[in-house]
Amino acid sequence: MTTITCIEDLRVLAQRRVPRMFYDYADAGSWTESTYRANSGDFAPIKFRQRVAVNLENRSLASTMVGQAVAMPVALAPTGLTGMQHADGEILAARAAEQFGVPFTLSTMSICSIEDVAAHTTQPFWFQLYVMKDRAFIERLIERAKAAGCSALVLTLDLQVLGQRHKDLRNGLSAPPRLTAANLLNMAGKPRWCLGMLGTRRRGFGNIIGHATSVSDMSSLSAWTQQQFDLSLSWHDVEWIKRRWGGKLIIKGIMDAEDARLAAASGADALIVSNHGGRQLDGAQSSIGALPAIAAAVGGQIEVHMDGGIRSGQDVIKALALGARGVYIGRPFLYGLGALGQAGVSKCLDIIRNELDLTMAFCGLRDVTRVDHNILLPGSF
Ligand code: FNR
Repeated sequence: MTTITCIEDLRVLAQRRVPRMFYDYADAGSWTESTYRANSGDFAPIKFRQRVAVNLENRSLASTMVGQAVAMPVALAPTGLTGMQHADGEILAARAAEQFGVPFTLSTMSICSIEDVAAHTTQPFWFQLYVMKDRAFIERLIERAKAAGCSALVLTLDLQVLGQRHKDLRNGLSAPPRLTAANLLNMAGKPRWCLGMLGTRRRGFGNIIGHATSVSDMSSLSAWTQQQFDLSLSWHDVEWIKRRWGGKLIIKGIMDAEDARLAAASGADALIVSNHGGRQLDGAQSSIGALPAIAAAVGGQIEVHMDGGIRSGQDVIKALALGARGVYIGRPFLYGLGALGQAGVSKCLDIIRNELDLTMAFCGLRDVTRVDHNILLPGSF
């Protein structure tokens, strides 16, 4: 049994166990991947102030995100095709999140459906919505999320057009995978993954198949999805969705101070500083680089969350120190899932929780809600 001590160990194991098409899908950024690399790379120059001889008893990582209690301010980000990293992946990840007391966010483009995840979990999860041209379909998705008891809607605004990912194009990404000779050869070397997939019926986009007009199979689905991202999306649509949903609303994909002010004015409860994990606009600033100016621009008007490049508890606490109320992790939990299923997502959360707790202690704090820029070395951020 491989010893897993950090997120990188999970990544290496996932790369061994998940067919290349799906591992690459998770691991890729767009074009040159410069923003993808900057997302994690830009955490490194930020330095902590180490403090000593401070009482470190009774430490607490508990906080809230959009008014909901979280055992630590780290949520699982919405990721498409999660059920292709591991059979029933969304259900397994949601269960691990539930066990750790942190939010799980189900993507519109998930393999397991909203109803499926709700049937296999006991805590409310969050649902992520893409704005599509077919407004009747959006209304149905919102109603389904409400009926499933979802406790927040994460509205993603940075995918009107799709950033090109070279690896996906080369691999001919599809779900389920096309059974070409190259794919079959690659999958033959991943017996655990294959056995899992044989044991489940969830292999297509669960929220969409059978629900969108004219979509009955994978090829019509792919054509439908390409046409559906709405090029005319505006803040009026955001207000319309907010009214229809009526609950906690989180706007995802904000990288600009002016957009952050518009998000605050839209009446949303939170915004997520995010460049989609470096998968959309290559050449955009890293999320951690964009965070301080956005936090300053909105003051306390709206909760500021962030994602992108977090690979450790140290990264989490740096984001909190620079103004985030909470953060999301995408690839780290996908690596855990691909490596070890639900146990791997739990391992990922356990690693991050321990690193967060110990780093907070080294900085001389006992309560994560008290973290601010004072824990950072001036001039390093
Ligand atoms: C994503 N992301 C994403 N975001 C979203 O709003 N809806 C989605 O369906 C997806 N799908 C998706 C798939 C995969 C494989 C990845 C890696 C990411 C973006 C995601 O929510 C988040 O913004 C990033 O993953 C954060 O960066 P890290 O933590 O992966 O570095």
